[in-house]
Amino acid sequence: MKYYAYHLSMTEDDLQGATIALIPGAPERVVTIAQEFGSYQEIAFHREYRSVIADDGKHRILVVSSGIGGPSLAITIEELARLGIKIFIRVGTCGAIQDFIQVGDLIISEGAVRMDGTSEHYAPISFPACADFTVITALNQATKQLGYNFHSGITCTSATFYPGQERYDTYTHYVIRSLQGSFEEWKKLGILNYEMEVATLFTLARVFQLKAGAVCGVIVNRNQKEDVNLEMLQEVEKRLSRVAVNAAKILLSQMDTTQLS
Ligand code: URA
Repeated sequence: MKYYAYHLSMTEDDLQGATIALIPGAPERVVTIAQEFGSYQEIAFHREYRSVIADDGKHRILVVSSGIGGPSLAITIEELARLGIKIFIRVGTCGAIQDFIQVGDLIISEGAVRMDGTSEHYAPISFPACADFTVITALNQATKQLGYNFHSGITCTSATFYPGQERYDTYTHYVIRSLQGSFEEWKKLGILNYEMEVATLFTLARVFQLKAGAVCGVIVNRNQKEDVNLEMLQEVEKRLSRVAVNAAKILLSQMDTTQLS
């Protein structure tokens, strides 16, 4: 019997041959990304998982939202892998840790600190969370071609938006002792940014021996006042969509010439 992905609410036939998935967190970003690729068709929308097939006349890709955080992203990757997806690209937003990173810049993650929690159900914490080299290269190339400012390096993936990213603007204004000072420490260690899904994606993809990469747009710099500007957010979403789609096209053309399988 054909596998039915319960949470994503689809079967292999719904993928129409797509083997690359672009994965934003937010369902509303799915269509923005798909439109950048070509014509699109929504194939499922169950809970936080909205899935659209985009077609540029030559290739098809899947764009699917993962929701926020490791647990819901892990469900996405599990089910997509079983359906036949081979390359996963997270397309998200993040907070910058380093002073030299500007709001609007893009971060291409080479690896991630595994503070996500979820990935420990797949591999011991000593297992590295690193991206696939061909996917990193395609993302770097796409970002350079588009002329956007970007940084490549290590991301910190946190299981929480507030205490795990050492935010004190919370109900209790308290961060547990083990996390106090963590922001300064990651900064000293050269970590570029905080977000909530990359380490889970990289760990699962490696464990499954599939390929993954991630590009995140900077919406706040944590060394400055946290003021999310709506116009900048829309600009970041536009940049992210273009980079992710162009990177997918680079990878697809490599598949056509069998450099990549
Ligand atoms: N997403 C995060 O997880 N942290 C931020 O600061 C911004 C986006």
